[in-house]
Amino acid sequence: VENGLARTPPLGWNSWNWFACDISEETILSAARAIVSTGLKDAGYEYVIIDDCWHAPARDPITKEPLANPVTFPSGIKSVADKVHDLGLKFGIYSDAGSETCARRFGSLGYEQIDAKTYASWGVDYLKYDNCNNEGFSGNESISSWRFSQMAKALNETGRPIVYAMCNWGEDHSWTWAGKLANSWRMSGDISDMFTGYSKDCPCTSLLNCTTFGHHCSATRIIDWTAYMVNYAGPGGWNDLDMLEVGNGNMTNDEYVTHFSMWALLKSPLILGNYLTKMTPDILDIITNDAIIAVNQDPLGASIKRSWKRLLEEGDVQMWTGPLADGSTVVALMNTSPDPQTATISFKDIPSKSPNPETTTFRAFDLWQRSSELTRSGTRWGLDIGLFQGQISDITLKRHQTKVFMLVPQ
Ligand code: DGJ
Repeated sequence: VENGLARTPPLGWNSWNWFACDISEETILSAARAIVSTGLKDAGYEYVIIDDCWHAPARDPITKEPLANPVTFPSGIKSVADKVHDLGLKFGIYSDAGSETCARRFGSLGYEQIDAKTYASWGVDYLKYDNCNNEGFSGNESISSWRFSQMAKALNETGRPIVYAMCNWGEDHSWTWAGKLANSWRMSGDISDMFTGYSKDCPCTSLLNCTTFGHHCSATRIIDWTAYMVNYAGPGGWNDLDMLEVGNGNMTNDEYVTHFSMWALLKSPLILGNYLTKMTPDILDIITNDAIIAVNQDPLGASIKRSWKRLLEEGDVQMWTGPLADGSTVVALMNTSPDPQTATISFKDIPSKSPNPETTTFRAFDLWQRSSELTRSGTRWGLDIGLFQGQISDITLKRHQTKVFMLVPQ
């Protein structure tokens, strides 16, 4: 939506994927401090977002204002937001376009104005707005002009810039209309820390099969699903592939590289979901790859598109490409099969017309081979692997690995 916000996908951290309801102000503030001390802030991560379960058992009985849980958030949300701001970060909170949140805390349906006003007074910069317990009302603004649009309106009325992240799991094909209301919209049911596989309700496509807990959307399932919706992503409104699982322990590092690369190149918000104060150096290394983040934050805001998918007995190899603002092209080669594979990038598969990719010489950078040199405009664009014409042949991919290349026309 054109509210001046999220011109590039939001970067941040959210409490849900690791902590779920086991949160307190200390959980949130130690994550915020870790974002600064580990260098994640310098890498661009900005929003610290409290997900479900920050709530008191009920609203204020008289004013109906939302209240924080007095045991786990004794200082109140404003105090947490102030401390997050003091660290130079931005603050996000969660609510639900229903009578109750998915974890059965009070929801915002019917209280949109009072809630938006309260969030603004707390200093909220980002609202994640969930879809549980919607009392049978559709979230589609063309069917009923409320639920998600009510909150969009209420947020606008506060006058405070608040990123609006709709979380309705792709229901009612929301990618086709959510851009009128929100800065991002979820594409699927909940991600889990898995590389392949899914349960029957991933993705959610109708109210009937959407139950919130117990979804199993693996990283590759969400990528495959989003392949058909890439054109809906752009400055101010993004396909949200769900929060990252990088570092949560159930995937290999190569799998996390695939997960992180594809989220970044598909222009999803990059919202970390791991335990930041217990993070290992190799995980930090993945999520601070500045070349990959720079592609995600490229001002053109164009998602990669799939060029081809070669099916194998188990899994596949896929090539994806997308344009960058400066005229270069990013290419991802993804191996979802359990075995090593070899693939060739043919420049004829790059959709750009001028310069003609078939006759252009490109300098190629491998964005996962880190070099210490600042190769282009202050960004470490991986390793310069040389000049190529026509193709880059016989690229080897390990099991479940993705390689990302930037091709700069010469
Ligand atoms: C469902 C959402 O899809 C999740 O990301 C999370 O916010 C939970 N609800 C919280 O209950």
